[in-house]
Amino acid sequence: MAADAEHWNAVYGRREETSLSWHEGDAERSFRLVSGLVGPGERVIDVGGGTSRLVDRLVAAGLGPVTVLDLSDAALGLAKTRLGAAGEAVDWVEADVTGWQPAHSYQLWHDRAAFHFLTDPGDQRRYLAVMDAALAPGGHAILITFADDGPERCSGLPVQRWSPEALAEAVSSALPGRFEAVEAERFAHLTPAGATQNFQTSVFRKLREAR
Ligand SMILES: C[S@@+](CC[C@H](N)C(=O)[O-])C[C@H]1O[C@@H](n2cnc3c(N)ncnc32)[C@H](O)[C@@H]1O
Repeated sequence: MAADAEHWNAVYGRREETSLSWHEGDAERSFRLVSGLVGPGERVIDVGGGTSRLVDRLVAAGLGPVTVLDLSDAALGLAKTRLGAAGEAVDWVEADVTGWQPAHSYQLWHDRAAFHFLTDPGDQRRYLAVMDAALAPGGHAILITFADDGPERCSGLPVQRWSPEALAEAVSSALPGRFEAVEAERFAHLTPAGATQNFQTSVFRKLREAR
């Protein structure tokens, strides 16, 4: 088991997942974005999905097929148990995204609060190469991270904070001519303990032909 997986399994094992700082009750922001970009029958992946309710919303809306990928089998187990029979159609993948080889082509890649744990530029480039390999031309990537004025650490780990501009630059330098930035917004997340954390959301479209 990778050291990171041990870390994340301990995090999910130690505390009620609804009290973790990133928890949100309904994944409304992500659901709104994803459901605006895909229709029924189009493949969606939630990368570092943890115990997020996004999968519940997508399945209930008849979207997908949905894949949830995470390093932590503890997190995947909690999400699977919560979904019960509704989760049987979900593809649950326990993997480190930076070394993952997608078996399918996806229309939509969603990541809320996983990419920002990659602080090494080599890991960031590996992640972006997997994202490129997984997405169909014309597909979208939604990358939600701590903003440049967000927290410097989370869950005992350092993070890389991103402005939408710096993230767009990182994507274009790792994958020249492959993606265009289509929208970005900043927002504040209220943690279950009542603290405010500044995030940014960036949406990228994979070009049909490399420029
Ligand atoms: C802060 S949590 C966010 C969980 C979920 N996206 C949400 O919004 O509730 C980060 C998640 O990313 C996962 N993660 C961290 N690094 C990862 C990696 N390299 N590959 C796959 N998952 C990873 C962790 O196990 C954890 O579940």
